[in-house]
Amino acid sequence: MVVTTNSAPASGVGRRRVTILGSTGSVGAQTVDLVARDPERFPVEALTANRNVALLADQAKRLNARLAVVADPAGYAELTERLAGTGIEAAAGPQAVVDAAARPADWVMAAIVGFAGLEPTLAAIRRGAIVAFANKEVLVCAGAFMMEEVRAHGATLLPVDSEHSAIYQVFDFARPESVAKLILTASGGPFRSKDRAFMATATREQAVAHPTWDMGAKISVDSATLMNKGLELIEAHFLFDVPEERIDVLVHPQSVIHSLVEYVDGSVLAQLGTPDMRTPIAYALGWPARLATPAERLDLTKTATLTFEPPDPDRFPALRLTRAALQSGGGAPTILSAANEVAVQAFLDRKIGFLDIERIVEGTLTALPHRPLRDLDAVREADAEARRDAAARVPACGAMAVGSR
Ligand SMILES: NC(=O)c1ccc[n+]([C@@H]2O[C@H](COP(=O)([O-])OP(=O)(O)OC[C@H]3O[C@@H](n4cnc5c(N)ncnc54)[C@H](OP(=O)(O)O)[C@@H]3O)[C@@H](O)[C@H]2O)c1
Repeated sequence: MVVTTNSAPASGVGRRRVTILGSTGSVGAQTVDLVARDPERFPVEALTANRNVALLADQAKRLNARLAVVADPAGYAELTERLAGTGIEAAAGPQAVVDAAARPADWVMAAIVGFAGLEPTLAAIRRGAIVAFANKEVLVCAGAFMMEEVRAHGATLLPVDSEHSAIYQVFDFARPESVAKLILTASGGPFRSKDRAFMATATREQAVAHPTWDMGAKISVDSATLMNKGLELIEAHFLFDVPEERIDVLVHPQSVIHSLVEYVDGSVLAQLGTPDMRTPIAYALGWPARLATPAERLDLTKTATLTFEPPDPDRFPALRLTRAALQSGGGAPTILSAANEVAVQAFLDRKIGFLDIERIVEGTLTALPHRPLRDLDAVREADAEARRDAAARVPACGAMAVGSR
């Protein structure tokens, strides 16, 4: 259960000092866009990036941030040069990203992609910050541990994924026993109506061309395999403390209904809106108040048809894999997420074919033991072991895929 509820007093939010981890990414840049609209109310402590120094420096100057951090140490010289004379501090390296998250900001956007976001997010949680949570891989790889840290440190976790933001907004936190099930909607991704023969030769460009959302490369590929929905299922399990068998997935290609909660009396509550990530980001930024956003308004008279269909388990095995990992417990979700990160990167690097992603994930998930995760070191070990195993599978898949691309 998240430690805060959606029924906090509806007072206006005061001044809130902000840090954005992963500010140069898709979610990060949209957060920058919202924060820049009200700089008096949202002064900026720190911004972080991996390598995109030019954008990071521009953002830091635009928002008058106190600190800008580039995770890749090779970017440090360029960052200091670009920030010379501004008074903005520059730092580099993975530990500097963690240190940035530990600095006193009231609100931290966790928008780094993948396992790399674990330690910085944890640093923000451990000082009891409000953490707007986009970085789903962190909850997948260390869900029970992270939720325990949230409780122990009195942090507030506000989901940013549009599906989890939707559920958060309609979930009865005062009476969780009245919730019958969660229904996560899925756009179905770019290959919703494609067959396996098409997917076998799908290119990087085809896989990242998402029909309704404009997102970073990794999550776009995850949407094409439906692994994104599987990761979201695990995320929902930890965020809302609902067992896997009471979380359904519903394909809804228009992405207007962002998710639903069904109650024991048969009532179903949903949150709707146009597909624009600035809406869930603004919900978290303003929480518990609502902020005005430039997102296009939903006009249901113009939304001709809303359609729904069950996911196809034969064409998209990722949901089966994620459910199996969650049921197995222990390090299984950690292994699944790590293997998926390796496989997606190999696909983006054109080393393997699209269907090799699921082969590698399933191979690694089956090969490695699902040990219990007692602490953060065990999470790190499970992640590293899975990465090694998955990386070892890439060359064989790549050799087979060469002829088909
Ligand atoms: N995009 C969406 O609409 C959306 C929606 C819901 C949830 N999410 C989730 O939000 C997270 C971010 O997604 P995104 O689409 O915004 O990703 P993205 O566009 O790829 O951006 C990722 C951000 O993380 C930084 N980064 C990457 N590797 C890093 C590392 N090793 N250390 C430190 N920083 C690192 C990147 O810096 P550089 O720019 O320098 O590479 C960038 O700022 C993901 O977990 C995703 O699943 C995204």
